[in-house]
Amino acid sequence: MRDKVTVIGAGNVGATTAHWLLTKNICDVVLVDVVDGVPQGKALDLYESSPVAGASVEITGSNDYAATKGSSVVVVTAGLPRKPGMSRDDLLKVNNDVVSQVVRKAHEQSPDAIFITVTNPVDVMTYVTWKATGLPPEKVFGMAGVLDSARFRAFLAMELGVSPRDVVAFVMGGHGDAMVPLTRYSSVGGIPVEKLVSRERLDAIVARTRTGGGEIVNLLKTGSAYFAPGASAAEMVEAVLGDQKRVLPVVAHLDGEYGQKDIYVGVPALLGKGGVEKIFEIDFTPEETAAFQHSVDGVREPLSVLGL
Ligand code: APR
Repeated sequence: MRDKVTVIGAGNVGATTAHWLLTKNICDVVLVDVVDGVPQGKALDLYESSPVAGASVEITGSNDYAATKGSSVVVVTAGLPRKPGMSRDDLLKVNNDVVSQVVRKAHEQSPDAIFITVTNPVDVMTYVTWKATGLPPEKVFGMAGVLDSARFRAFLAMELGVSPRDVVAFVMGGHGDAMVPLTRYSSVGGIPVEKLVSRERLDAIVARTRTGGGEIVNLLKTGSAYFAPGASAAEMVEAVLGDQKRVLPVVAHLDGEYGQKDIYVGVPALLGKGGVEKIFEIDFTPEETAAFQHSVDGVREPLSVLGL
């Protein structure tokens, strides 16, 4: 029997996640949204692409959580997107209400499901998902670092004129302008990027990565990025369903790792059927330690605003 994956929120990110999942042909997908007709219409449109895309999975849409029953994974994208000039933290309170409400409903239907939160501010919303479901921390995590790292890798590939596939790079910390792209751990076909790109250009690429989400928002004028976020969420779903033991940057619960407790923030982790099966602790330079702490502080502040 195929796994069922629920995607809550049939907006740009949710529908694009469903699209990537359909093309991977690995699971049935249920799209859920509060707006009548939207999840149904997008699911039907996606299903109608199956004969051409070569997919053999079911995709349905609903406003009723009963349709999500028995899901293996729930991806949470419901909420408001960021508008130009709006910070991620502006979204805090409204998305807190939306996320806690929708994840409770989904958890009731699928008590064993793993939750992957995408709604921003994602580090905080992942914590909200964890609290609202009451699940063990390894079964709740968030998508940010795969996207931020994909942007970092894409910018490095552009700089060097190489395939983005051959660029390995990762980003840690909170999903905000204080995120910590780690050039020291980045390579192109195994060659450290610091040997290939000047410090000055690397600094510019790091700065562009940090504001990568805002760059898309400013270009689009309405709404925020969804192709790369959808691809990133789908990659995490695939890692779980296939028990792939992928090592990816994950918004994961820290309980003493990196000297932090009771927080969700981006760290390298192993993803498999059990969710976050391991967190990797890497060595930091003093500058990286300070940057990570600064980023973590930026996640703790909105958590305290919400009284969490
Ligand atoms: N229950 C279900 N769906 C909801 C609810 C709710 N209570 N509230 C809002 N939604 C739905 C909206 O109807 C909409 O279809 O969530 C969807 C959000 O879609 P978009 O507005 O297109 O936003 P999108 O670009 O998909 O971003 C969603 O992901 O990357 C993050 O920052 C982004 O937080 C944002 C989220």
